[in-house]
Amino acid sequence: MLKPRVFPDDEAASRYAADWLMARIRRQPSTLLCLAAGSTPMRTYALLAEQGAIQPQLFARVRLLKLDEWGGLAMNDPATCEQHLRAALVDPLRLADRYAAFESQPQEPVAECARIATWLDENGPIDTCVLGLGVNGHLGFNEPAKYLQPHAHVAVLSTESLAHGSLEGAKKRPAFGLTLGMADILQSRHILLLVTGPEKRAPLERLLSGRITTDFPASLLQLHGDVTLLCDSKAHPAAPR
Ligand code: GLP
Repeated sequence: MLKPRVFPDDEAASRYAADWLMARIRRQPSTLLCLAAGSTPMRTYALLAEQGAIQPQLFARVRLLKLDEWGGLAMNDPATCEQHLRAALVDPLRLADRYAAFESQPQEPVAECARIATWLDENGPIDTCVLGLGVNGHLGFNEPAKYLQPHAHVAVLSTESLAHGSLEGAKKRPAFGLTLGMADILQSRHILLLVTGPEKRAPLERLLSGRITTDFPASLLQLHGDVTLLCDSKAHPAAPR
């Protein structure tokens, strides 16, 4: 059963997460990190970037893979996962040469997913996958559904995803999602799941119920043997309602 490690606030959880990731990188300098965007991991990424300024050699061989992307937005749209990850980590850590990512506005979305799937076949598996928890239980854009998809695919975005705060500044509405699939995530050697803030309390409670269902894709993490789940007190089910 997944058991969260609870921190007083987002800052404390992010500091632990950044230290945890740096310890992994020290153990395996060429580690392949798969990264979610979204607001939850951004403080962790900022802390990693700070460390990169102090000890750049630590990140000299790290490889990055973007977990998901809003399809149909221009790559330079401020709402894209691309822009968030580049600003937070890729540029400060100078990882552009070792960074693989879905194009947000591909001519052929299915071919773009096949390109990323091939990249992962050739360069994977993911060593550490950093995930946030969607309010509806999604991981990346693996949305609640009767069937989930194993590998990189074009996703139909849920109402909850389309209401995500990061789209507020988007120049247009995304038409679809591009995401790694559930098998890609579950084949990661280690998974770091970050859950903070009061809006994540209900989904975290559902995750911790232990019931596994495709209606709540994050519940499949119960099948993985090495998930580090960090939450803050606001997201923890024991927090006052
Ligand atoms: C977004 C992304 C996910 C992200 C999740 C949670 O829509 N598709 O990759 O992890 O939802 O986002 P946040 O951390 O902002 O709550």
